[in-house]
Amino acid sequence: MSNDQLDQQVVELDNLNEHREIVTFMRRSSPLNTSQRTALEQYGHLILEYPVGDLRQHFEHPERPLTVEIGFGMGRSLVLMAQANPERNFVGIEVHVPGIAQCVYEAGTAGLSNLRVLDADAIQVLREMPDNSINTVQLYFPDPWQKKRHFKRRFVVDERMELIEQKLEMGGTFHAATDWEPYAEWMLDVLDNRSRLENLAGKGNSYPRPEWRPQTKFERRGIEAGHKINDFIFKKIS
Ligand SMILES: C[S@@+](CC[C@H](N)C(=O)[O-])C[C@H]1O[C@@H](n2cnc3c(N)ncnc32)[C@H](O)[C@@H]1O
Repeated sequence: MSNDQLDQQVVELDNLNEHREIVTFMRRSSPLNTSQRTALEQYGHLILEYPVGDLRQHFEHPERPLTVEIGFGMGRSLVLMAQANPERNFVGIEVHVPGIAQCVYEAGTAGLSNLRVLDADAIQVLREMPDNSINTVQLYFPDPWQKKRHFKRRFVVDERMELIEQKLEMGGTFHAATDWEPYAEWMLDVLDNRSRLENLAGKGNSYPRPEWRPQTKFERRGIEAGHKINDFIFKKIS
């Protein structure tokens, strides 16, 4: 899609949303490949249907700490994290259907029982969660929404962070990463000024890239384009 087409689509979306909420994503349609189509049937039990209520109740061990990843893309890094942390439960939320199918395919073939995914706006899902119920929220390489008139679509803004803070457990963390320097500065500005959050790297700093965070598709693209990667980990302190 050209930039002009994208702009036009966003204008249409804005008009459509005149009386509705501003969303942080654009639905893109692309065909599913064979394994993705098969995965939706074969591993359909890994997909939650919206509305889902309390995400913890969908696991065999609901008492285990819950990680929620917002916008996992094709899901490879989420699957690797779930595989590396069998003592935790993971839920991935995405609106891109081929990504959901790919993630389910990889989770299913790996035999994972601690990962579920769903096709929904993460904001709506978070609203349904009880307060203080999520251990970790991950937001890796969110759409940077580079133009000023699209800034309201950025995920990291005060209003959305207030919701995240409400749903995180005390001591739980919000982990974001971006390769877009202006968004990194924006994130730091928003997050460092949230009184319920503590920057684990110290105010004004990004967190050294944790080696336990697998590289994502958009991270790889950013690195290939010569971008610097910034991680931020904030803990809920009140
Ligand atoms: C730039 S991509 C990054 C994908 C992946 N995290 C990566 O690093 O490769 C951002 C993704 O977030 C998804 N997204 C954005 N806002 C979302 C929301 N509110 N709920 C669910 N998914 C969302 C988009 O559909 C898109 O696939």
